Amino acid sequence: MKKITIAIDGFSSTGKSTLAKQLAKKLEYVYVDTGAMYRAVTLYAIQKGYIDENRFDSESLIAELDLIKLHFVFNPEVGFGEMYLNNVNVESQIRTLEVSQHVSKIAEISKIRSKLVQQQQEMGKEKGIVMDGRDIGTVVFPDAEIKLFMTASADKRAKRRYKELLDRGEDVTYDRVLKNVESRDYIDSTRTDSPLIKSENSIEIDNSDMGLEEQFERIYNLVLRYI
Ligand code: C5P
Repeated sequence: MKKITIAIDGFSSTGKSTLAKQLAKKLEYVYVDTGAMYRAVTLYAIQKGYIDENRFDSESLIAELDLIKLHFVFNPEVGFGEMYLNNVNVESQIRTLEVSQHVSKIAEISKIRSKLVQQQQEMGKEKGIVMDGRDIGTVVFPDAEIKLFMTASADKRAKRRYKELLDRGEDVTYDRVLKNVESRDYIDSTRTDSPLIKSENSIEIDNSDMGLEEQFERIYNLVLRYI
C-alpha cells in the first residue's frame, strides 16, 4: 500500500486530534500533534517566568531556543506519542487553560515557528503520517496528498473543550473557555507568519452536527482512494 501524508488543520477544539488519532490507528501511521509542540515551548516560557498575564519576555525565550528539546515518545498504553520537554513527560501539563491562554502569542514568533516546522518536516519525510495543527497543509506539507480543514461553531467547540478540562479536574468556567477559544482563533488566523487559512485544495469539514464515527467513515473512504 502506498504511504501518504495527511494534513489536518483547523480552528481550536474542532476534534482534529481525535480524527487524526483514529486515522493513524487504522492506517498504522505516525500521528503528530503539532499543537503539543507549541504548547511545550509555552510551558517552558511559563516555567522560566518569561510569560504571564502581564509580561512576555520573548527575547529571553528566543535566546534559549536551542535549549528547548522536544520529543514524542510512543506510549503503547494510550496508542500515541506523548510530548517530552527536555526529557520530561509534559503531556498533561501542556493541556491546562494557563498554557492555552499564552500559546498563541508564542506561536506568532517566526523563529519559534521555523524551529518547530523543521522538526515536523523531518518527522514526516518518510510519509505514512497524520499531522494536525494550523499550518500543516499550507506550510509544513504543502504537497500533502490529503488536506483537511476542520471547523465547528465556537459554542460547540468551547463546550467540548470545557468538558475536557472539567474531566481533567481543572477549575474553569464555560465563559473563560469560550473566550480562550475565540481569542486563539483570532490570533492564529490574523498573525503574519503562517496564519490559519483554508488552502484552496483542502476539504472543509464542519463537524458541528456530525458524529465521530460518521466523520471518520467519510474521511477514511476518501483516504482509501489515495493509498
Ligand atoms: O492544536 P492546539 O489547540 O493544541 O494548538 C495550540 C496552539 O498552538 C494554537 O492555538 C496555535 O496558536 C498554535 N499552533 C500553531 N501551529 C500549529 C499548531 C498549533 O500555531 N501547527
